[in-house]
Amino acid sequence: MPELSTTQRPSPGPAPDNHPALPPTALMQLATGFWSFKTYAGAIEIGLFDLLADGRELTVEEVSAGLGIAHRPADLLLAGCASLGLLDKSGAHYRNSAQAEEFLVKGRPYYFGGFVRYLDSREYPAWQHIVEALRTNRPTTWTPGTQESLFDTEDPEMMQMFWDCMYSVSVLTARTLAGVYDFTRHTRLLDVGGGAGAFPIELCHRFGHLSATVFDLPHVCDLARTKVTEAGLDGRIDAVAGDFHRDPALPGGYDAVILSMILHDWDEENGRALLRKVRAALPADGAVLICELLLNDERTGPPPAALMGMNMLVETEGGKNYSAAEYRRWLLDAGFARVEVLPVEAVGANGVVVGHVS
Ligand SMILES: C[S@@+](CC[C@H](N)C(=O)[O-])C[C@H]1O[C@@H](n2cnc3c(N)ncnc32)[C@H](O)[C@@H]1O
Repeated sequence: MPELSTTQRPSPGPAPDNHPALPPTALMQLATGFWSFKTYAGAIEIGLFDLLADGRELTVEEVSAGLGIAHRPADLLLAGCASLGLLDKSGAHYRNSAQAEEFLVKGRPYYFGGFVRYLDSREYPAWQHIVEALRTNRPTTWTPGTQESLFDTEDPEMMQMFWDCMYSVSVLTARTLAGVYDFTRHTRLLDVGGGAGAFPIELCHRFGHLSATVFDLPHVCDLARTKVTEAGLDGRIDAVAGDFHRDPALPGGYDAVILSMILHDWDEENGRALLRKVRAALPADGAVLICELLLNDERTGPPPAALMGMNMLVETEGGKNYSAAEYRRWLLDAGFARVEVLPVEAVGANGVVVGHVS
């Protein structure tokens, strides 16, 4: 058969999965994504946003002196951060963008640097072994067989970093949730796998009638208690130690259960088993709120959910990000009568799947 000339060749048309073909510039952007991340993480680690806190406007020379680094790296770092929207510039002076001022200065109530630092120090090196994770179907941040799960650690550095990281993300997700879900219908929250207590702390600050309990592994409860005391919420939030896999039942007496970034850590069998325990613990007017980055039904995105799924490959044994349809099925099978899905735009969730007991 004669070869088709270029003009005769059928056009490649849209890719079969309905995405327009990626132009080479997009391929370049994908390949260099780590430049953005490392510039961002490096700026946090070296304290750039802390130096520029409270509206300070500094020149390259002043930043170089303030960080104790040479003029060239200071110049490059400032240009890099400005290009990413983390800094603004007027004349020769750089200052934090509004977002950097609110989220990237240490000590701010919604500080997000804990998340970035965890990714940089623990997940970034683990992702270098992504091919190993793909080939072996095993995590690369810890070794199955030597510990029970990612969470089974008393390594003080890991304890500090992981739960700080989760707090940074989840306090922002909780802030968004407070705006889309009516908590006035509940009085007692149980945050299962509640970590350092970001959801109870944010929600109890916003809803004066609520009280809450963090249910987590014993070593994590101590972290939660410290955070609760710092937030001035002793007496309204407590922490109860337990194991949601091993304990035959969850604590009762709560009319709402939160599961934030819990189910994606485990396989379907463990997820379904946990939902059955949640259902058994709730009263007739109770509800469970599953806050997650939900995969779409076609399993093609959105990227935060699909790529968090890849992160679960690196971090967990059986975890993956699931779709709202999958959670709906699990909830109905566990005995919930009604399921609604609330779309949200939060850092740690793009949707909340609510299972109502009646
Ligand atoms: C990904 S973190 C999510 C923390 C919190 N829900 C949030 O969104 O910030 C998972 C949490 O589940 C807790 N966890 C893991 N296994 C558990 C178990 N068997 N019983 C109770 N809690 C557990 C971990 O200690 C950790 O705090």
